[in-house]
Amino acid sequence: MATIVGGIATSHIPTIGKAIGKGWCNEPEWKPFFDSYKPVHAWLEKVRPDVAVVVYNDHGLNFFLNNMPTFAVGAAARYDNSDEGWGLNVVPPFAGYPEFSWGLIESMVADEFDITSCQEMLVDHGFTVAMGLLWPKEKGPCPVRTVPISVNTVQSPLPSPARCYKLGRALGKAIEAFDEDLRVVVVGTGGLSHQLDGTRAGFVNKDFDLLCMEKIVTDPEALTDYSIPDLIRLTGAQGVEVIQWLVMRGALTGQVSKVHSRYHGVISNTSAAVMVLENSCADERHAREHVLQEHL
Ligand code: DHB
Ligand code: FE
Repeated sequence: MATIVGGIATSHIPTIGKAIGKGWCNEPEWKPFFDSYKPVHAWLEKVRPDVAVVVYNDHGLNFFLNNMPTFAVGAAARYDNSDEGWGLNVVPPFAGYPEFSWGLIESMVADEFDITSCQEMLVDHGFTVAMGLLWPKEKGPCPVRTVPISVNTVQSPLPSPARCYKLGRALGKAIEAFDEDLRVVVVGTGGLSHQLDGTRAGFVNKDFDLLCMEKIVTDPEALTDYSIPDLIRLTGAQGVEVIQWLVMRGALTGQVSKVHSRYHGVISNTSAAVMVLENSCADERHAREHVLQEHL
């Protein structure tokens, strides 16, 4: 049975990808931001995941307005990046894991989620910036195989926060049903508050961002009461990307504890933040309780 070691939430702002590409991580204006990922690296070295399921939103690289799946799951052996027009370096391909992807897709479809399966899928900055932050190339080759999951935040109608949380629930169940001894981390990328276009361009809402960061740990269901129009009003048109965090949180099946949390503030137009949530599984809990009882 696969084990979910935990979840990570992170922003995926293209400017961060530019800083990674240029090697600016130790420049004074970038160092505090990149340093906030050091505890994430330490945690990843401790939990040693084999696979990363990365929940993000494609921004027009693989899917465009003419073909927009609500929930798309990668089922390819490798995922290429390509030029999106942001001026970012195209990064090398990421390893996929088709058998695991199909296991997830079958289980989620059986759970009544109508998934689009993608045996070819380009991954954009929503995926690559997060991967570059979590597994910097300076630390060696990327140690995880990946499953990209794209949730539509681009073209109306978007799935509601409640639906995204339920998708996460189905994803967690699907991961644990996979009959291999794998350690899996679930990553949700995007947000926090931002609006890139229209009269509210530049809008951020720090109070609501901090509320999301609190509730995602202790009471994620409170966030499922919001509608998409509520989120657009409170977080900006693109701030709705926080629904990717809710999918990630929904997938954590066990007892969840916060390992690391950092609200950085605005980069480009977006409130940047990162969180690490550890998932202690029922099995591990039982094992610990058992050991404890033996010592009593
Ligand atoms: C920005 C943020 C995003 O999430 C994105 O996808 C593109 C741009 C920004 O703040 O510049
Ligand atoms: Fe985005």
